[in-house]
Amino acid sequence: MKESIKPPVEIRYQKELAALEALDTARKPGNWRLSPQAVRTFILGTQKPITYQGESISIRKKYFGNDALVERCIVTLAGNRGLMLVGEPGTAKTMLSELLSAAISGVSTNTIQGTAGTTEDMIKYSWNYALLLAKGPGREALVPSPLYVGMERGILTRFEEITRTPAEIQDSLISVLSDKVLNVPELGDDGFLFAKPGFNVIGTANTRDKGVNEMSSALKRRFNFETVMPVREVALEKQIILNEVGELARENGIAMTPDEEAAELLASTYHELREGISSYGHRIDKPGAVMSTAEAVSVYYQTMISGYYYGDGSFDMDCLVQNLVGAVSKENKEDLGKVKEYFSTVIKDKSSKEGGLWKKYYEARKWLK
Ligand SMILES: Nc1ncnc2c1ncn2[C@@H]1O[C@H](COP(=O)(O)OP(=O)(O)O)[C@@H](O)[C@H]1O
Ligand SMILES: [Mg+2]
Repeated sequence: MKESIKPPVEIRYQKELAALEALDTARKPGNWRLSPQAVRTFILGTQKPITYQGESISIRKKYFGNDALVERCIVTLAGNRGLMLVGEPGTAKTMLSELLSAAISGVSTNTIQGTAGTTEDMIKYSWNYALLLAKGPGREALVPSPLYVGMERGILTRFEEITRTPAEIQDSLISVLSDKVLNVPELGDDGFLFAKPGFNVIGTANTRDKGVNEMSSALKRRFNFETVMPVREVALEKQIILNEVGELARENGIAMTPDEEAAELLASTYHELREGISSYGHRIDKPGAVMSTAEAVSVYYQTMISGYYYGDGSFDMDCLVQNLVGAVSKENKEDLGKVKEYFSTVIKDKSSKEGGLWKKYYEARKWLK
């Protein structure tokens, strides 16, 4: 049994990172654990396994999509602006920022989670009042924020869902990002924390939330923005589902191999509902709910573990449709009607033309209520 449900990226890919680090001979920015070239390799994978300490280690491709975007993100982090990843929910913004942090700084957990309740203390620093009273203001009594830690140690700070925090609170980042110094007035002349090389900020923002529109233009200028797009090809989406689910199953000791055909079917459902057009050319009324790859992965995994614990270990179409209903109808009731319509046109046609699993999928439409 492994020790935690979801180990951080740097633990999960410990071997890959150690091998890449040992074999890395390319140029590195100050305090980076890996060179920009090796960071790229870690995220995009290698064709052939690499050999380290007599062991053959394969560097799996982790992010599928735009390779140039990954390169730009890495270069941004080596420069003096922050990196802001924006896009629809479930497009791997968080995943990318964790991979980047683990590869560059060796830690992916130095993170501020943005919420409507995030305060300036949470972004900068606060005090341990017992120590403050006993010893007066000093570094000992100061409780550093992840931003403070990032500056002090020269590592990346991740700021998740930054646009969910009020704009005036977000603005406390401005001086840190432009001058790379944080002032703690309570510490007098010793109160200046100058950021070590290696420090930078990766923000993520969902376009479905309040959005980046409300972010001040002063803060926007401190970041390079990169838009992460949803996966556009069914084959790629199917591959992501198979990889992610395969890995989840392995990590959780579930002895089941994901079914390729079922992954293809789910990937095409997500793709078609997202794009509003079927591979046969039917126009589809798009649901308002987010039809992301991340959702597809979780619907698939949910169905697979139901089969593992309750069923005969096979992938059950009735269960798949039930999970799909749960996933699409959480935003509003009309979405379910749109999925029903999708089944009675697109899936009906696919069932009669392609048969096989599509037929079972169509028969499971009785769960769409
Ligand atoms: N382009 C992609 N490459 C690899 N995995 C992806 C991709 N898009 C989505 N995923 C999957 O979806 C999940 C994305 O979740 P997450 O990073 O939390 O998204 P976001 O932060 O954008 O809402 C990943 O963990 C992965 O399983
Ligand atoms: Mg996220």
